[in-house]
Amino acid sequence: MEENQVVSLPRIGEAAPEFKAVTTQGEINFPADYKGSWVILFSHPADFTPVCTSEFMTFATMEDKFAEANCKLVGLSVDGLYSHIAWLRTIKEKIQYKGMKDVEVKFPLIEDITMEVAKKYGMIQPGESNTKAVRAVFYVDPKGVIRTILYYPLSLGRNFDELYRVLIALQAADKFSVAMPADWRPGDDVIVPTAGSCGVAKERMESTNGLTCYDWFFCTKKLDKDQVMNAILKKS
Ligand code: BEZ
Repeated sequence: MEENQVVSLPRIGEAAPEFKAVTTQGEINFPADYKGSWVILFSHPADFTPVCTSEFMTFATMEDKFAEANCKLVGLSVDGLYSHIAWLRTIKEKIQYKGMKDVEVKFPLIEDITMEVAKKYGMIQPGESNTKAVRAVFYVDPKGVIRTILYYPLSLGRNFDELYRVLIALQAADKFSVAMPADWRPGDDVIVPTAGSCGVAKERMESTNGLTCYDWFFCTKKLDKDQVMNAILKKS
């Protein structure tokens, strides 16, 4: 790619750019191999670095929790396959951190030494680094559409409660046709779609249909935590 070539970066609501890649779990065809599941595609700057190691141990420890919410994980860095394999082996055999030990990373980690995928997904951000991917997180839904994008700098490890909260919130918003207010967590009230006309809005504000309306454009309703989690989590 030429230095000043304008690239179109993935955006929320658009199809996830396609690629084939070699990973620690064999070849993948993204996002086709993940149709029917949610998938989080995330990048890290480099193998054998401390923040990335803490993140990988946390992701691997939470993998089953993400899987219960029908979500697979795929990692990427611009390191090669043998570096990935050696790093993941070191994590399993040597690193004990915050009660995590003997941690096996079972999800695929993409080798991207050409930076082809990293560039396609806007993971190389030259103000931060020309040679390493930033900490990007792409949530791709079961139809292959990008639903959320997060970027963190090299020096800041991600918040995994937030990564999980986003996944549950996206799925709950879809399933119950609602939106989630600031800091929403399962069990909190949710926002019902804005009424289409003034008349409907007035009716809504005056009725006792279980809504709490703060004004004509801002109504919430209760959504039970069990109802949310039962709708999302796979029964094992
Ligand atoms: C880290 O994961 O610790 C790290 C990686 C690249 C730059 C700075 C920190």
